[in-house]
Amino acid sequence: MPSPKPLVVLGDSFFPEVIQAELAPWAETRVAKTQQQLHQALKQAWGAIPMLSQKFDAKTLAASPRLKAIANYAVGLDNIDLAACAARSIRVTHTRDVLTRATAELTLTLLMAAARRVPEGEKICRSGRFKGWGAQMLLGQELQGRRAVIAGQGRIGQEVGKLFEALGIRVSWIHRQTQPAEIDALLREAQILSLHFPGTPQNKHWLSARRIALLPKDAIVINTARGMAIDEKALAQALKKRKIFAAGLDVYEHEPKITPALLKLPNVVMLPHVGSATEKTRREMVRVAARSLKDIWDGQAPWNEVKLPQ
Ligand code: DGY
Repeated sequence: MPSPKPLVVLGDSFFPEVIQAELAPWAETRVAKTQQQLHQALKQAWGAIPMLSQKFDAKTLAASPRLKAIANYAVGLDNIDLAACAARSIRVTHTRDVLTRATAELTLTLLMAAARRVPEGEKICRSGRFKGWGAQMLLGQELQGRRAVIAGQGRIGQEVGKLFEALGIRVSWIHRQTQPAEIDALLREAQILSLHFPGTPQNKHWLSARRIALLPKDAIVINTARGMAIDEKALAQALKKRKIFAAGLDVYEHEPKITPALLKLPNVVMLPHVGSATEKTRREMVRVAARSLKDIWDGQAPWNEVKLPQ
């Protein structure tokens, strides 16, 4: 008798043809979108491909007695309690590399849109207020020659650095070893500040009210990493008082909620966490996740396995 197939819980139906090709031959699959469906399915599941919004905290893991592998549908791991996974010998993988370029390109998209006031221009056109070419209309910033500080020198930060340099933007870096006084000095010069930190507790409000106050008046702040790295209320205040020029945000402190003050501001470009959202990348993400589960099922070490805390 063939051995029963393991159950893999999917946080979304993703791309059904990819699931069919990569998982169906060796696993049973069940889509569980709500937290309640997830808890129910996890009672039997061997593996999971969760969405970022699905929390795999200690309580959820404790109620998942057969769970052995989590292939997160993201590069960020802030939805998973990694220490609890280590304690339970649950293996974890993520979708690093495959989404680097898409996220870096979206960072550039936000920067260009913020620098040239694209949302304001859109609004003028759509509302019928465009009455003709204006010499002083929507004056923005050119990017060539500007000084950018990229905070976070991981894969995405480095790719953003390449794109910025290709545009003639001068790039400096903040990384784990950068000392607080050095960070302050860099922020004082940052006409562009792009954040690329993981969503760990140590990074909460990294861009605090104090640090925002150091930025020059023409600064543009971009965040395509995790919302919690910015004190969103302080950022809204600074934008409102024109202490900085603009912001481009793809992620939010209390996602999917957005600080109401930000919604009213013309000088912020907002997107709904779509950094990796290209057809090519999202397909590749689910393929990578499915293959890493297969590797674990076969007793192999997937290339994208996450090192768990001891
Ligand atoms: C990630 O992978 O962590 C992104 O935020 C999802 O696009």
